[in-house]
Amino acid sequence: MTGRPVTRRRALAGIGAAAGAALVSVTLPPLARAKGNIREFRLRAAPAAARLVGPNGPETAVWAYDGRTPGPVIRAMQGERLRVHVENALEQPTTVHWHGIRLANAMDGVPYLTQDPIAPGKSFTYEFDAFDAGTYWYHPHFNSSEQVAMGLAGALIVDEPAPPEVDRDVLWVIDDWRLTKDAAIASFDRPFHDMIHGGRFGNTVTVNGQIAEDVPVTPGERIRLRIVNVANARIFRLIFTGHRPWLAAIDGHPVPPRQFDEGQLIIAPGGRADLIIDMTGKAGERFTVIDNSPEGIRYRLADLAYGPVPATPAPARGTPEAWADNPISEPDLDTATRLELVMEGGAMGGLQTAIYKGETLTGRELARGHGMFWSFNGVVHPPMKYGDPSHPMFTFKKGESVILAIRNDTAFAHPIHLHGHTFRVLTRNGKPDPDRPWQDTVLLTVDGEVEIAFVADNPGDWMLHCHILEHQKSGMMGHFRVT
Ligand code: C2O
Ligand code: CU
Repeated sequence: MTGRPVTRRRALAGIGAAAGAALVSVTLPPLARAKGNIREFRLRAAPAAARLVGPNGPETAVWAYDGRTPGPVIRAMQGERLRVHVENALEQPTTVHWHGIRLANAMDGVPYLTQDPIAPGKSFTYEFDAFDAGTYWYHPHFNSSEQVAMGLAGALIVDEPAPPEVDRDVLWVIDDWRLTKDAAIASFDRPFHDMIHGGRFGNTVTVNGQIAEDVPVTPGERIRLRIVNVANARIFRLIFTGHRPWLAAIDGHPVPPRQFDEGQLIIAPGGRADLIIDMTGKAGERFTVIDNSPEGIRYRLADLAYGPVPATPAPARGTPEAWADNPISEPDLDTATRLELVMEGGAMGGLQTAIYKGETLTGRELARGHGMFWSFNGVVHPPMKYGDPSHPMFTFKKGESVILAIRNDTAFAHPIHLHGHTFRVLTRNGKPDPDRPWQDTVLLTVDGEVEIAFVADNPGDWMLHCHILEHQKSGMMGHFRVT
């Protein structure tokens, strides 16, 4: 592990960053109960300027919620209701999707499928209950490959009534930007290359909206670190040198905590992980958190920088325990309806033919004529427009248990996300997952296969798509109906 060169992210970005940049950690203070059980928020989506590359670097023109990227943390306690007034001050329509939240269909934020887009200058109020505790996020679902890449994303945190005992609750929203040498966001002019390959991969990675410098930590403290991957395309493979974090929750939902030592923690776009980390270093020490990207580039995401030993040292703590499960219905695997979802397309393989709006077209016709490169079960689903009829891929009766076997017949990895439902991951590449974790986004490796199971208990039309946003846009999506 050590001894391998760790390239500097600033070298990747090609931009010099000043030493002593602001702290990248957001420590979440304890939350008091809301009055009347409702928490109200306002979010204004608008152009803004951000200092992504450090206090002395050039400013970047972004689109942001409330002038900040990532947007403000939206936070409630489990069981409370959230009301979020969204104002669109962009020059194009938008919507907000509450990723991972099981809510009423009309609040899901999918243009044309669940609501009309919010026109420029207009507002929309979302309201939903926080049934599940955990780490979630929000982002636009209209033109999302551009809007998310421009900076529209934020964390949504629902506090457990009995959270794990830690000294600090820390949030890292990790993102990946494609910047020019002047730190401007690179153009979206020629998206086909990104669509047929692994998506809009960036050259600059930020933690909470800044290229990371030092993350100050205290010897002996135990932190809960919530990581949210809001990048369009980058699959993070994190290595915490010198530490032995426990993975304690995936996509917001607790799992039996397991230590992953210096192994990699893989977080795909849309995914979240909650870690418990004991800060076992000594005063003055520094440890690097590395992202081991698939291109073979290992770079420094951030440094854990140890401050002095505190006057009152933190109490020694044993192995953390899993906290309470969320109230998700357990699928009945014996009676479940079993379905397949086969993913095809992209470079190095590609589509022979697929059905597009009822017609069978060749891969070349789909690419040249429609900018479509991917299919689900032989069908290419373009983003919906005004007046499009909705053609669900699957229809379930409310309460039906479903096992979905997803197969990736492409040369790329894909994080598949389901709306409105949380599923158990039963197997990965033929091997049972002993924890059967609850997830809303699951990563399919190249040529990989996963089986997931869930109860279709939430009525409405729900998206199912790849969270590499350029794949979503070019055919890798669809929806299912629960009646
Ligand atoms: Cu996070 Cu359909 O999206
Ligand atoms: Cu994909």
